[in-house]
Amino acid sequence: MPEGERPEDPKLQAEAARKAFENEFERFARFGEAETALRELGELRSKHTGKKSALSAVKKMVGRVEASERASFGQLVQQIEAEIVRKIDEHEASLKSLVEELRRERERIDVTLPGRRPRQGHLHPITLLRQKIEDIFVSLGYAIEDDREIETDFYNFTALNIPENHPARDPLDTFYTTEGFALRSQTSTVQIHAMERRNAPLRMIAPGRVFRRDTPDATHNPMFYQVEGLCVDRGITMAHLKGTMTEFVHRLVGPETRTRFRPSYFPFTEPSAEVDYSCFKCNGAGCRICKQSGWIELGGSGMVHPNVLRAVGIDPEEFSGFAFGFGIDRMSALMYKLDDIRLLFENDVRFLEQFN
Ligand code: DAH
Repeated sequence: MPEGERPEDPKLQAEAARKAFENEFERFARFGEAETALRELGELRSKHTGKKSALSAVKKMVGRVEASERASFGQLVQQIEAEIVRKIDEHEASLKSLVEELRRERERIDVTLPGRRPRQGHLHPITLLRQKIEDIFVSLGYAIEDDREIETDFYNFTALNIPENHPARDPLDTFYTTEGFALRSQTSTVQIHAMERRNAPLRMIAPGRVFRRDTPDATHNPMFYQVEGLCVDRGITMAHLKGTMTEFVHRLVGPETRTRFRPSYFPFTEPSAEVDYSCFKCNGAGCRICKQSGWIELGGSGMVHPNVLRAVGIDPEEFSGFAFGFGIDRMSALMYKLDDIRLLFENDVRFLEQFN
């Protein structure tokens, strides 16, 4: 507001609001009045010209008056009736056109007014990437599993061959409820549920949230997303794992993408490997995104440990399998060049709108 200008008197504003309403409301009131008048006019017609009307009684007298006066009396009655009917007809016609006009007025819309556009939402960048990953694995014959985020010790650790004294069990790393349940710290727990439910052979992936007691910073958040994969069948080897990972990055990143496997350790796989893929930006030459290494970490993988199969009653002599787990947020942070992973969880619309 320009300097020196006082806001209008609030009372005047209130009155103005009332006046604006009354102006528009008036035609509704008139509309009601006109309709009532029209109805009452109809009643008036039957009262004065109907069977029980005085006029009707008079008409019946025509036959009874003296023959000499009959003609003129009949004429008089006709005249009176014609007058009544004409007056009512005329008035009715003008009322009808008034009602019609008011109705048109009431239903009028200004088609030139700008529309009110609803704000349209869209999927979150993590959801977009998750759906891409799901599509790829579904086309490779994998089922999608969704499971609980709160676990017992058995599913979170024991069945995954994680020993009693393993640091992952430390309450400094894992969130525990007061009843001793753990918020799952990895989607690997779904391997156990899926094998118990479906038995071997099976192929599944399990995208979902996991929780770790990390202090949030540019690359960490205490809640993040992983996708787990598991394939168990007769005669599954490391070659199947390699082939599957290679096919996956070809479809997700591009056909020129290469993979490499580095020996690693996870309690639930033996042997275990870290999977890397050649950088989608520089194709291996080295750039800022891959920190000059030419490679980007995809996640952990390996051949399912016989103890894990035994924990769910699958015979490791008959079946073998491979498993893997990637971080979805880390991948989307790289793909969308985010310098801070927390952006994905803050629900700042200014950020999210960019993925429309
Ligand atoms: N659960 C592991 C983690 O959170 C990732 C992982 C490694 C999953 C190897 C697997 C696997 O299925 O075989 O770091």
